[in-house]
Amino acid sequence: MSNTGYGELKLFCGSSVPTLGKEIADYLHLPTGRVTLMRFADGEIYCRYEENARGEDIFVIQSTCHPVNEHLMELLIMVDALRRASAGRITAVVPYYGYGRKDKKDAPREAITGRLVADLLVTAGVHRVLTIDLHAGQIEGFFNIPVDHLRALPLFADYLGRKGLTNGVVVAPDDGAVRRSKQLADRLDLPLAVIFQRRVGTDTKEPVQVVGDVEGLTPILIEDIIDTAGTVTRAADVLLAKGCVPEIHVCATHAVFAGPAMERLSRPEIREAIVTNTIPVPPERLLPKMTVLSAAPLLAEAIRRIHLNQSVSLLFT
Ligand code: R5P
Repeated sequence: MSNTGYGELKLFCGSSVPTLGKEIADYLHLPTGRVTLMRFADGEIYCRYEENARGEDIFVIQSTCHPVNEHLMELLIMVDALRRASAGRITAVVPYYGYGRKDKKDAPREAITGRLVADLLVTAGVHRVLTIDLHAGQIEGFFNIPVDHLRALPLFADYLGRKGLTNGVVVAPDDGAVRRSKQLADRLDLPLAVIFQRRVGTDTKEPVQVVGDVEGLTPILIEDIIDTAGTVTRAADVLLAKGCVPEIHVCATHAVFAGPAMERLSRPEIREAIVTNTIPVPPERLLPKMTVLSAAPLLAEAIRRIHLNQSVSLLFT
């Protein structure tokens, strides 16, 4: 593969997404680069690249998922080592951008962690960012470097399209999900409904209104993140009360799956949970009704195009 301006394309993988990193490397017919990552006795992280980085076009793959602080710090240290090794260009491939949910102040004296993480990445030496489904599009604007922001929506649309759910309705489980739900509904040629929820705590909401018809229809809920699965299960309750078919399909890009998520997703009215591998789902959390779609081809193709200085926008469709 050749490009314009930078050296060889090299991939390095942090410890958060080894399988996704390997899949990306396989797609590109490249090895993952050799890097030593270890922990000192007190938990501090040590990083050393075992091969040349000088002048090269380097992509560091790391989701800042659980344990978030560990993975974030590991990414920053990996980038720092590359900068000091005179890498030509450093792209942080962050399939899941943790801390992104605080992208504004909802109350006085709060932190905006989505911005803080952007500043940390740039200070460490990142030249570009490649990511999927940021919690809010405006996080791109927290960076003054190029950000390629991919969407998992085409993966869900392809998968669900093959299922042929003709009596489906795409449902936005809260107002934050309206845009992506509308896009999915358009792609699947299905009607749209929206559940409006009211925030009643830092990370708790309660449904107040459903707009659109769901009675007798099979709901498809789409979210960016399933964390505790509170949002989707509250949405499921409301939809069932409104007479939907008790076979709810739930899609989410990032399977955070914290706290009671697995128990909540296990309820029988949730027929299928469809997620991607931007965050690895360990075998003990992989329910039989769960489908994990790989984001590797999308990310790998974006990496190839960035390296070759080709348009990435084609991947959005
Ligand atoms: C919130 O704005 C996000 O889009 C998700 O709805 C939320 O993070 C999901 O969290 P949980 O699964 O804990 O309800």
